[in-house]
Amino acid sequence: MNKNMQNVKIIGTGSYVPENVLTNNDLEKMVDTNDEWIIARTGIKERRIAKDNETTSDISSKAALRALENAKLNPEQLELIIVATNSPDMIFPATACLVQDKIEAINAATFDLQAGCTGFVYGMITAWQFIVSGFYNNALVIGGETLSKFVDWTDRNTCVLFGDGAGAVVLKANKTEGILSGHLKGDGSGADLIKIPAGASKNPTSHETIKQRLHYVKMKGNGVFKYAVKYMKRSTISALEKCNISATDVDCFIPHQANMRIIEVVAKVLGIKKDKVFINLDKYGNTSAASVAIALDEAVRQGKIQNGDIVVLTAFGAGLTSGSIVIKWVK
Ligand code: ACO
Repeated sequence: MNKNMQNVKIIGTGSYVPENVLTNNDLEKMVDTNDEWIIARTGIKERRIAKDNETTSDISSKAALRALENAKLNPEQLELIIVATNSPDMIFPATACLVQDKIEAINAATFDLQAGCTGFVYGMITAWQFIVSGFYNNALVIGGETLSKFVDWTDRNTCVLFGDGAGAVVLKANKTEGILSGHLKGDGSGADLIKIPAGASKNPTSHETIKQRLHYVKMKGNGVFKYAVKYMKRSTISALEKCNISATDVDCFIPHQANMRIIEVVAKVLGIKKDKVFINLDKYGNTSAASVAIALDEAVRQGKIQNGDIVVLTAFGAGLTSGSIVIKWVK
């Protein structure tokens, strides 16, 4: 327990994406779609796809080890591991336990967190509270997905959107600034907009659920689009207001990488200039809970985030959920 440290900062980031690249041209051979449509409607050019024997815990562990190396922390020093995922290795045990074993973080507590694509932001805010309260001194938060295993590769409405990957951060108690504020929201009235209908208690697996292809992602894209714009805007404003920072003071805006059009509209309504917005969805598509985590790691490694910068992470996703974090970047 560490009761004196009230602030929390990110001391390391890491990410990993599978080697296998699936381009829009590849998808043209699988479903009735084309490169122009996908780029115009989403901004996505290609995505990474995990191998058959490559799991969420495998790629999450690789991202985790990179974050730990960057943080100069040994796995056995870790006190908490949270894995945000919608595509766990199994319904149970938690993927976080499998990651803990793979990276040999023998002293860490472990749990999974499921909050759609907002999962990593939920995970960071949860870990932040554990450290602020003095319960833990450090935590590893991972967003990891192999959603390609839950995507219907005959459904052009969804299969062009998603990709696999993992990103991670190490958080640690800190005497000066770091995470400044956060905001989280849930809205279960929109639960039907994006879901995997079968394979759990509502529709246990049966011949019928398999025949009806109910084990795959089902999405009403237009409904999600409207929700995404409204709630990412509201969540970002709420988090910024809590720490008295104006959107025009944001140095690096890292939104959930679902759709270029959503990102552009959100940045515009917030008044955040294009050159402050970090984008990598053209390379990876929507990696769900991993998206913000991968983008944050790439922004750091590309030198897009400097000491003292105000960084905002924001996401929305299945649930429905939304959330944002404001960080003053301190090395
Ligand atoms: N290729 C070609 N045509 C397509 C494709 C495709 N891959 N997919 C759909 N179409 C067609 C549709 O059938 C439709 O044809 P019709 O007019 O003849 O019926 C037409 O394109 C337009 O379809 P819309 O759904 O209206 O297209 P829209 O502009 O809304 O774009 C999209 C669809 C990209 C899915 C958009 O709605 C979107 O990005 N929504 C948000 C989705 C999202 O962010 N999901 C992630 C949720 S986060 C989580 O928790 C996992």
